[in-house]
Amino acid sequence: MHENTKEITGIILKAKEKAIKETSREPEPELTKPINWPVDCVVGPGLEGAIACETRIGYVNGSKGWLVYRGYNIFDLCAYGTYEEVSYLLMYGYLPSNTQLTRFKKKLIEYRTAHQTKRLLMGFPIEKMKPMGALRLGTNLMRQEFTDVDRDKYLSNVARIIAADEDSIPMETTPMGEENAIYEFKRQQREDSIKEDLKHATGFESCFHLLSGVASLTGAIARLRCGQMPIEHDPELSFAGNLIYTMTGKKPTPVEERVMDVSLILHADHGMNASTFASMVVASTLSDVYLSVGAGIAALQGPLHGGANERVIEMLKDIGSEENVPAWFEKKRSKKEKIMGFGHRVYKSYDPRARVLSPLAKYMTKENKKSKKLYRIARTLEKEVIKTLGAEKKIFPNVDFYSGIVYASMGIPSDLFTPIFAVSRVAGWTSRVQEYLRKNRIFRPRAMYIGPFDKEFPPIENRGRTKKS
Ligand code: ACO
Repeated sequence: MHENTKEITGIILKAKEKAIKETSREPEPELTKPINWPVDCVVGPGLEGAIACETRIGYVNGSKGWLVYRGYNIFDLCAYGTYEEVSYLLMYGYLPSNTQLTRFKKKLIEYRTAHQTKRLLMGFPIEKMKPMGALRLGTNLMRQEFTDVDRDKYLSNVARIIAADEDSIPMETTPMGEENAIYEFKRQQREDSIKEDLKHATGFESCFHLLSGVASLTGAIARLRCGQMPIEHDPELSFAGNLIYTMTGKKPTPVEERVMDVSLILHADHGMNASTFASMVVASTLSDVYLSVGAGIAALQGPLHGGANERVIEMLKDIGSEENVPAWFEKKRSKKEKIMGFGHRVYKSYDPRARVLSPLAKYMTKENKKSKKLYRIARTLEKEVIKTLGAEKKIFPNVDFYSGIVYASMGIPSDLFTPIFAVSRVAGWTSRVQEYLRKNRIFRPRAMYIGPFDKEFPPIENRGRTKKS
């Protein structure tokens, strides 16, 4: 880790100390033992409380506010680890040795070019799409890079896109005939060296391809939507550093690189949340890992889930000043409106990720007047919410409350906040999908039918008059 980022480590360790002081050491024993099927549990709407599987990947203790990946607490992973190490840990179950990490990073670098996908993406009106929509599309296009899935249907599109802009055809393509100007990628040569599981789009290699590729696509989308060409990665920068660089076109400072790295670690996995569950449901049908990640992205984009970070910034701007907070909050509260960035299905205590992101937001905004103002409004709002909703309903800030302020301080536009979340969460989605597939059973809950029976089929001319039921 860079010398200049020692202060960041200090901030994280201080947050850890505070968390330990404020939370008890006992885990929730009913959620930390092997399952004997069938299992008894109390299930609420939205599958609240339902137990779907065993896992060794991660544990969220909602009442105490703990987050653990593979046995390591989140504070230590942020203080001492890197995103590359943590994604390896989530996937394999242990931290990599030096040699393993070097090999893993090399693999990620190899996959991050994603030239073919970026070229295809440029055939779509990215500037008219929301970045999360473009990212979802991008994972579908990535699926074609190495796999045979849907290839025949797809090839005609490739030919059309290439033919539309022949000047942009890179050196790796060879002309296949003068008359029709059809070009072919060096597919044959590459296919020989592709591992079997990449071809079928289901194995670990595809997960690593996605880990790197989704980050690459996020960088490319950030540029394309502003009418700029995607930029190449810098081999000197880390995964996190390259994410900032390819999105903004600016080389990050060591502090920005480290803070982004910490944020990626914080967002990498989080139990059976909506997007992870969506990915797992798709995988459980024996669909493939690209479509699973696409489903995760689709679920993450909603404002009740990962989309909340973007809304938080809009909300803080809307509040306008610290002085406006009490009146603004009272109005929302009286109307029973939700405050973005607060509340959580599992945490009924302070979210440990917000414990880290809050002081990091303070640190990152100290020299920027505009971001500092947003941070101050956020802190004032947090105090108001905790005083009332915290005491009444155990509602505290969640991960989305401060992450946007951190990203905004790096000059990242707010509609890229949720894609950054997605970049990080690919590690959790793919690890959990791979784990679940080892003992796969298709997900299939039931709904309670409360409609009528024995209705008579009415002729069409009578239908407007029948009562809705
Ligand atoms: N602001 C105000 N009140 C809230 C909030 C909030 N942010 N969150 C929950 N409540 C209240 C509800 O109004 C409800 O009150 P009631 O019992 O008087 O009707 C009670 O707390 C329970 O809320 P539910 O929505 O039923 O809780 P649920 O577990 O279904 O929802 C969720 C969790 C979706 C995160 C919710 O807290 C929310 O909508 N928060 C705002 C959006 C947000 O920040 N999402 C990001 C979550 S973190 C993540 O996904 C990465």
